[in-house]
This record gives sequence, structure tokens and C-alpha cells, in this order.
Amino acid sequence: MRKIGIIGAGHVGLVTGACFAKLGNKVICCDNDREKIEKIKNLIIPFYEPGLEEIVKEGIEKGLLSFTDSIYEVVENSEIIFIAVGTPPTEEGKADLSYVENVTIEIAKALTKIKEKNPQKELYKLIVEKSTVPVFTSEWVRKTLELLTPTGIEFDIAANPEFLREGSAINDFFHPDRIIIGVESERGKKIFEEIYEPINCPKIFTDIKSAELIKHASNSFLALKISYINAIANICEKVGADVEVVAEGMGLDRRIGKEFLKAGIGYGGSCLPKDVSAFIHICEEIGYSFNLLKEVQKINQYQRQLIIKKAKDLLWNLKGKIIGIFGLSFKPNTDDIREAPSIEVINLLLKEKAILKCYDPKAIENMKKIYPDIFYSEDPYLVAKDCNLLVFLTDWECFKELDFKKIKELMQTPYIIDGRNFLNYKFLKSLGFVYRGIGRKID
Ligand code: UDX
Repeated sequence: MRKIGIIGAGHVGLVTGACFAKLGNKVICCDNDREKIEKIKNLIIPFYEPGLEEIVKEGIEKGLLSFTDSIYEVVENSEIIFIAVGTPPTEEGKADLSYVENVTIEIAKALTKIKEKNPQKELYKLIVEKSTVPVFTSEWVRKTLELLTPTGIEFDIAANPEFLREGSAINDFFHPDRIIIGVESERGKKIFEEIYEPINCPKIFTDIKSAELIKHASNSFLALKISYINAIANICEKVGADVEVVAEGMGLDRRIGKEFLKAGIGYGGSCLPKDVSAFIHICEEIGYSFNLLKEVQKINQYQRQLIIKKAKDLLWNLKGKIIGIFGLSFKPNTDDIREAPSIEVINLLLKEKAILKCYDPKAIENMKKIYPDIFYSEDPYLVAKDCNLLVFLTDWECFKELDFKKIKELMQTPYIIDGRNFLNYKFLKSLGFVYRGIGRKID
């Protein structure tokens, strides 16, 4: 059992903390948002992640998981400190490292205080970046700690990037494809070997910069795969081929792999868009123009506009047309709408003066904060009522179970755009719907 501290109780931090407690470690999670900490203590999880509430509850009940808003308390009570605070994009698209910087300064202050209280006692901490940060961040963390702490404090810096996907984050923690650990001391390496011992997967120990780059390179590559298949989807539409079949044919080549070849309205979320953009900036700063990734972004942007083009192809003018939006979250099984394609699609439809009605199983409350004045309902049939067109933007499984016969009767005109290619178009056509997918051949 190790004593682990997590700074930042967001998606990454809270999942990581709860999972380490599940593995039997003593974990203390910290966030500067006191209200959030109080809520989590009372099992009100600030976001939706399947299975998380149960393991937070279990950790608290077993006395293995606790929460605080004091960084000092974390530093005092843990040997390993994970920094899992946000690195949101700045206006230019760089990663804003001010939270990481503030936390580092707070850690330095805490270490100084602890040393002053107990000058004779050995003081060692392993400080780990968990947030996605540009290469060189670890050097800044190290330099800052060295400058701001007195002598006699030993610490190692490490990078241990997360690859958790929202909606399956718990499973991803316990069954990852690999664990990447950038650590440059034997002492630090040993600790990682121990805390990740129960997890069975390849563990790559490397230098810190390579670990930081693996994260950027991986997420950017995933985004590239999605944009690539979306470009192919657009070509398929022009030549009358079917992107699903093309993706299947490509994916069976093990060198390519079938994952992340689902064409649609493009990637969103708190990671891929931000990471691609940050990576482009990091590369600019070191004198490399990563034009390939700029194209990845352009294609992703185009996919959103494509929905408007397809809507116009069906409805001619969008002004005054009633359009039902099904799916607001950036992907299923989450209430997260950060960088969700739906935000842009709604914006573009509003510019065309369409009348919007929105439904999502989890994300309505979040979307209301951005667009408070449009119509939302928890009842999908009420949303479908009187619509000229339904646009599906998130591939929630439950959408497949909707009573489409009833929906068709409720609509003014039976048009569907499936932005995720996940609905059974043959069935929809048999009911009399006019269906449009993304690069799908409709026979
Ligand atoms: C991502 C990475 O997968 C994870 O490893 C990382 O560390 C955090 O960022 P996440 O943002 O939770 O995870 O979502 P992910 O499942 O990767 O999907 C991202 C977006 O791409 C979603 O909007 C999804 O709908 C879209 N997507 C995904 C596609 O459009 N097509 C695909 O084939 C796969």
C-alpha cells in the first residue's frame, strides 16, 4: 500500500484516485473548488462516468479515499503526488499551463513548511505529471521546485500520461493497452512498478520527454485516423462508394487496425481537439511546422459544416424549419459537451434561423449553459414532434431503441441525417424516412 495524492479532482484525477484506492492504496484527492470537494464527499460526482460513483463510495467506506481542498494536506500525507489539473487551450490554442504552475508553487511551499517543521526527517516525494502537457513542462516543474524549496528535500519528477476515455475510464484504468512512465531514477521507477503491479499490460519505462511526446503523438494520431476516414467518406459520397465497407477493408490490415475508423461529424471532447492544437503549437515553437495536423483540424471542422450542407440539400431553406437535434454530448455515455460537434452544428443552424429542439440522455443541463434559449426536452418524442428534420449527432445506443414509426408520424417531413452512421438505414427507409449518413451508400 502506497500513499498517493492526486491534485485536481476532474475526470482524470478523480478516476485515477478512485482506481488507485480500489487497488488498496491510501489516496487523498484535492481540488481547489471547495464546493466540488464537498459534493464528492457526499457522493455527488460532478460529471457522469459509468461505475465511478460505486468505486468512490467503496474507497470512502474502506477509509482508503479521502478528499481535501488543501495541497499542503496532500503533500504531507502522500509519497507520490499526481498533478492532474486542467491544461485548457488558450485563445491561440496553446496549452495553458498556469494551473500546473500554480500547483507546482503550492507543492514547493508545502514542502518547505514540512521541512521547517521536521528538519531532521528524510523528505522524499515523487511528483508525477498526469495532465497532458507540452514536452519541457517537467523541466519547468523540476526547476521551479529546485528554486523554491530548501536543500535536504529529495524529489523525483515523472510523466505518466493518461489514456482514459470518457465513458469507459474505469475499465481503461484497469485494462489499458499500455502504461507509459517517464521516470529517470531507480527509486521512482520502483514505486511505479509497485503501484502498477496489479495491472497486467506492457509497461514502458522511458525518459520524461519521450513519455510526454508519446501522449501528444498518440492522441494526434487518433485524431488523424478519424480525419482520414472522414476525408475518405467525402470521397465515397462523390464516387458512390460506401465508407463503412472501405473502413472495414482497411481495418482488417493489422498494420492499420479497425479502431477509430468510424466516419461521421468528427472528433470532439476535452482531449483530441485540444491536444492536436497544442501539439501544433509545441512544434511551431521548436521550429517544425506540422502541416499534416493542420489538415486534420481542417477536415474535422469541415465535417460539422457538412451537416448544414446536407440539411440544405434536403430542406432547401433552413429559415423557420424545425430541426430536432438528437445527441449533444461529444460521444455516448457521458454528459460532457466540451468541444462537442453539436455546439458548432447548433451555432450554424441558428445562424440559418432554423428552429431547434434538442434531446440528449445526459447532456441537456450542460448545453443549456451555452444555449439557454433553445427548446430542450427529456422526452425524445416531444422533440421529434412537428420536426422537418432530425439530426443525430451522438451515437447513443438508446437512440437505436426509439420508436421510429411513432417518430415518423409525429414529424412534418420524414428526414433524418445520421452524423454518426449508426442507425439502421434500411429499416428507416422501410418506414418511409429519407436518410442521409456520412459517406454511406444508401441502396
Ligand atoms: C481521448 C483518447 O481516446 C484517450 O486515450 C485520451 O487520453 C483522452 O482523449 P476521449 O476524449 O474520451 O478519449 O474520447 P474518444 O473515445 O477518443 O473519442 C473522441 C472523439 O472522436 C469523439 O467525439 C468520438 O465520437 C470521435 N470518434 C472516435 C470518431 O468520430 N470516430 C471514431 O472512429 C472514433
